[in-house]
Amino acid sequence: MKYSLLIFLLFINVEAKEKDSFITETEYAKHLYKNPRGIGCNKCHGKKGEGMIISKYKHKGEEYILQTKEINSLKYSSFVEALKEKRSIMPKYFLTNTEMKALYNYLHKEEK
Ligand code: HEC
Repeated sequence: MKYSLLIFLLFINVEAKEKDSFITETEYAKHLYKNPRGIGCNKCHGKKGEGMIISKYKHKGEEYILQTKEINSLKYSSFVEALKEKRSIMPKYFLTNTEMKALYNYLHKEEK
């Protein structure tokens, strides 16, 4: 009898913990990708990191295209490096390891 009460209490506790995470990892990363404490990654890298044309412009009569490559098939180390380095056009973000990991997983998931 004593034990069944204990098991019952454990069960309630497990249930409560599951309900605590009301947002999934993917949902969290999706929001972060669009709003990473600065200009959204999607504005320059496309909806899911497929790369895109940021802008086309003319300089001294010549046409230039400013575009990004895809960032959804990189090694994790290259991804993190790129976010930590100073870049020419891309702003520097001060993301935590957890944030970078979430973004990486989001972009490198099967369904794109
Ligand atoms: C203002 C446009 C812009 C925004 C916003 C932006 N990027 Fe970039 N990103 C670039 C450009 C352009 C490059 C190519 C390097 C350069 O010129 O800065 C790049 C390079 C990268 C690379 C390296 C790609 C490679 O092949 O090595 C990664 C990874 C990356 N960006 C991830 C992100 C993530 C994640 C975010 C959001 C937190 C983000 N970027 C936001 C423009 C942007």
